[in-house]
Amino acid sequence: MANVLIINGSPRANGCTAAALAEMIRIFREEGLETTLLQVGNKEIRGCIACRTCGKRGKCVFDGDPVNEAAPLFEKADGLVIGSPVYYGSPNGNLISFLDRLFYSTSFSKHMKVGAAVVSCRRGGNTASFDVLNKYFTISGMPVASSTYWNQVHGFTAADVQKDLEGLQTMRNLARNMAFMIKAIADAKEKYGLPQVERAHFTSFQDGK
Ligand SMILES: Cc1cc2nc3c(=O)[nH]c(=O)nc-3n(C[C@H](O)[C@H](O)[C@H](O)COP(=O)(O)O)c2cc1C
Repeated sequence: MANVLIINGSPRANGCTAAALAEMIRIFREEGLETTLLQVGNKEIRGCIACRTCGKRGKCVFDGDPVNEAAPLFEKADGLVIGSPVYYGSPNGNLISFLDRLFYSTSFSKHMKVGAAVVSCRRGGNTASFDVLNKYFTISGMPVASSTYWNQVHGFTAADVQKDLEGLQTMRNLARNMAFMIKAIADAKEKYGLPQVERAHFTSFQDGK
């Protein structure tokens, strides 16, 4: 059964982001997809120290926080949903630390795993946060699922989000589109195989030219 890994980057396990993600989870189940929810926003997660130990070790140098725990779940997942509250116009800093280390420390292919970002805010900063999260997908060969409008809900509490009918509808449509893409990609993989990925060049102008 196809599996979607869902990351809640809020410190509040039952807050607004959780309400948006719950709406998606309900649809994933209806669509016959398995879901795994990881609550990371309430954990102590340090930032990347650029030690590059992961290159030799195959996992992050820091054990004991959710990054190395999430890695095998991400590897087997067919889709990844990242949800975050908006903090000063950005995703939660804890979540950014988690995602930087998760994406940087894992060498397995993320190619054609479907991604979707969801943000929750009270008033503003949502689209800037949405952009930050989508970039993890688009530099990793992950197709991005879209919905009927912005992937966001508004509120300060989960009860507020229940009143954001358009936001919840957007979540349901997003989950349906994502389920469709996951199924279509699984079929296409069988029929055509995955597209070729070139890896010959790593151009960072180390020679100073
Ligand atoms: C530190 C902090 C910064 C915040 N910054 C913003 C902001 O820039 N824009 C906004 O609309 N809401 C802001 N909020 C409110 C939350 O983004 C909003 O209530 C969100 O829906 C909470 O989601 P959660 O319940 O899943 O944590 C902030 C909240 C906190 C705690």
